[in-house]
Amino acid sequence: MPSILLHPSSLFSKREGLQETHPQSAGRPAMRGYLVALFLSCVFLYYVLHCILWGTNGYWVPSMDIKSKNINTCPKKPAFSSLLRFPQFYPFLCTSDFARITSMYGTNNFVLPYGIKSSAPYFRTVLSKLKSCDLFDEFDNVPCKRCVVVGNGGVLKNKTLGEKIDSYDVIIRMNNGPVLGHEEDVGRRTTFRLFYPESVFSDPTHNDPNTTAVLIVFKPQDLRWLWEIMSGTNINTNGFWKKPALNLIYKLHQIRILDPYIIREAAHHLLHFPEVFPKDQKPKHPTTGIIALTLAFHICSEVHLAGFKYNVNNPNSPLHYYGNATMSLMNKNAYHNVTAEHLFLKRIIEKNMVINLTQD
Ligand SMILES: *[C@@H]1O[C@H](CO)[C@@H](O)[C@H](O)[C@H]1NC(C)=O
Ligand SMILES: *[C@@H]1O[C@H](CO)[C@@H](O)[C@H](O)[C@H]1NC(C)=O
Ligand SMILES: *[C@@H]1O[C@H](CO)[C@@H](O)[C@H](O)[C@H]1NC(C)=O
Ligand SMILES: *[C@@H]1O[C@H](CO)[C@@H](O)[C@H](O)[C@H]1NC(C)=O
Ligand SMILES: *[C@@H]1O[C@H](CO)[C@@H](O)[C@H](O)[C@H]1NC(C)=O
Repeated sequence: MPSILLHPSSLFSKREGLQETHPQSAGRPAMRGYLVALFLSCVFLYYVLHCILWGTNGYWVPSMDIKSKNINTCPKKPAFSSLLRFPQFYPFLCTSDFARITSMYGTNNFVLPYGIKSSAPYFRTVLSKLKSCDLFDEFDNVPCKRCVVVGNGGVLKNKTLGEKIDSYDVIIRMNNGPVLGHEEDVGRRTTFRLFYPESVFSDPTHNDPNTTAVLIVFKPQDLRWLWEIMSGTNINTNGFWKKPALNLIYKLHQIRILDPYIIREAAHHLLHFPEVFPKDQKPKHPTTGIIALTLAFHICSEVHLAGFKYNVNNPNSPLHYYGNATMSLMNKNAYHNVTAEHLFLKRIIEKNMVINLTQD
């Protein structure tokens, strides 16, 4: 972990300072100073490792950060906690601790889509324009959050789960899965909506002022796009797989940027995708659904799923609860491994780590 080098190096500069003030004191006292510094840094390292391994905040975080970034105050252990490496990981990027957090979790060692390497200045520029990186609003005081992740699957059609979905503390939706016109089946409330430039609503009737819109950054163009939208300049539409939205229906204070670590956790740790794919294969990435679920794991104490179903054997079944796309579209998708995702979901449902609301 590169971050660990950070703190001893500050100790190192203190040591140099000492030498400057006592230029003549050679030998044993200086040596003892080194040993004490070495010992202290070992203790410190042990503590940092301990905190990282146990996923606690520790106390080296400035107290302000702890207060505003205390993501889970629930005393009860969630059923899925064994799946996570760092249950207390804060899912959004913030300007104030960007360098510290991205080096602490090794996110600075990966290029996009799962890291910030060589794109850090773009991340910083965009982050500096956002108004907030808060998770929940300041009046939120529910310690153990019950969450539902609402996939866009056709399985939600005619199940009239809307009221049930609206009863959760946190409702996570994705992309352009509409609420408008589908309230009976999918509910009205949206706490978080994960999106990327090619999948975000551009029709303002879909804006819900109570929603926090979370950008999933896959490529540097996604950051450029957000920056261009925020600065009101012309939007360069090169480099997208589908025409991106040309306007943003959300206000600046509603926007967050997902820490790429969350996607890396989903790909490598939950789905066990290889870090390097063979040259003749397109790399596979987690679907927004699995990324949303991984986000939920880090902020909720109970997670339920609705609308997650890939009917791979029936290419004519509806892909989404809206529109006319059919499953055949997903089968052609070379960027996801639907089989791996299905097996993962099946396993965690069987183990009662999450509950499948669309279960018959
Ligand atoms: C849902 O119900 C409507 C109206 O009853 C019906 O036309 C439609 O075929 C149903 N869709 C599914 C997927 O069951
Ligand atoms: C947003 O939240 C406020 C306050 O809780 C509530 O009155 C309002 O109905 C909500 N709006 C939507 C669209 O859910
Ligand atoms: C879906 O198909 C119906 C009937 O063919 C059509 O009227 C409707 O506009 C289509 N909807 C979308 C979103 O393409
Ligand atoms: C998809 O995942 C499954 C299950 O982990 C694996 O057996 C298969 O090789 C993967 N396919 C591709 C194309 O990566
Ligand atoms: C949830 O239950 C439904 C109905 O039994 C099933 O079709 C669907 O595949 C299940 N979802 C997952 C992710 O296993």
